[in-house]
Amino acid sequence: DLKPEYRPGLEGVPAAKSSISYVGIQTTESGNKEGVLEYRSIPIQSLAASSNFVETAFLLIWGRLPTQTELTNFSTEIYSHRRIKYRIKDMMKCFPETGHPMDALQASAAALGLFYSRHALPNQDYARQAVIRLLAKIPTMVAAFQLMRKGNDAVLPRDDLDYAANFLYMLTEKEPDPIVAKVMDVCLILHAEHTMNASTFSARVTASTLADPYTVIASAVGTLAGPLHGGANEEVILMLKQIGTVANVRPYVEQCLESDPKYKFMGFGHRVYKGVKDPRAMILQDLAEQLFQKFGYDPYYDVALELERVLEEYLGPRGIYPNVDYYSGLVYRKMGIPADLFTPVFAIARVAGWLAHWNEQLEANRIYRPTQIYTGEHQQPYMAIGDRE
Ligand code: CMC
Repeated sequence: DLKPEYRPGLEGVPAAKSSISYVGIQTTESGNKEGVLEYRSIPIQSLAASSNFVETAFLLIWGRLPTQTELTNFSTEIYSHRRIKYRIKDMMKCFPETGHPMDALQASAAALGLFYSRHALPNQDYARQAVIRLLAKIPTMVAAFQLMRKGNDAVLPRDDLDYAANFLYMLTEKEPDPIVAKVMDVCLILHAEHTMNASTFSARVTASTLADPYTVIASAVGTLAGPLHGGANEEVILMLKQIGTVANVRPYVEQCLESDPKYKFMGFGHRVYKGVKDPRAMILQDLAEQLFQKFGYDPYYDVALELERVLEEYLGPRGIYPNVDYYSGLVYRKMGIPADLFTPVFAIARVAGWLAHWNEQLEANRIYRPTQIYTGEHQQPYMAIGDRE
């Protein structure tokens, strides 16, 4: 007696009950509307100001903030599992250096599962081990591919460096400035979770078949790769580069809209934050400004500010404002991270959210099996090949 109503992109269709995160829009005391994002009921602004990525991952996955002892143990365990097996490195060496790092990450994440035994229904120990290994090894794999594609050997993780600082060290072979490491840590917090987006849905669908967690993460990484999802941050930088100068912003926008009135500007628009700027974009803009103050200005930022102003005129009335991907690329660019690694950095963070959803899905699992509206014909004759046109 289900009456299927087709909603493209499943807009507005609940796909799970979840207590992991919340997104919404609220009206402030001054009557303005603003976007809200909470992880396990804690506002993202508080976590960005006071937490760190490992603690936030614990919160998302296990549902509460850790005690000091729990956090120390969790961090130590993650730090001690940051190395990857030499066979994974050998496999990655065979990847073409021209390949996209997201493809390399998806393949490597899936390959991790080959090394650890499968359990159809994970017990607590298995779940914890998988959580630790995935949080620990995904950054190492991103960094290893970056060095190997330049013809260098991957460097080993450093036990004395925390999560974000160690990732930057493995990526650049230099110990990062503490401010840069701190900004990276906040970026990871901001990208760690965002309710039922495409990659999280993909993770939950894969989890619902009782596939192993490495496969769950690999399928989510594949979904994150597209330019309508995580890939947008890379596209934003390409767009700013194409625009080039502040003076060229308005002609560029007009030209795009003239050639296609529905032209999609990357880094703008969101299924949930309609009519408001993504709260993560505001924090990221602030972080970008902090980096510019300390390490020098980025002329692309002027172009980005002008583009935001001009697009507010054109898209603001339709509720389209900057999303998380608009300013994250400028932050990563200032850190010296190449554009095609922006989405892998997003993936490193989102592993925490995907794992939380993997856990939650298995707590009350039912395999995903939606329906469809058949639009074809019925009972057609089979035509012999010689009779076909
Ligand atoms: N530029 C111009 N017009 C836009 C944009 C944009 N970036 N985004 C949405 N619109 C228009 C769209 O053409 C449509 O117009 P109309 O109602 O006249 O047909 C309307 O706004 C609704 O758009 P939609 O595509 O139906 O909205 P959606 O909720 O299905 O898509 C989105 C959301 C994020 C995929 C979309 O806004 C988009 O493609 N943005 C550009 C890519 C991007 O920045 N992606 C990152 C998303 S945030 C992080 C993440 O999820 O990874």
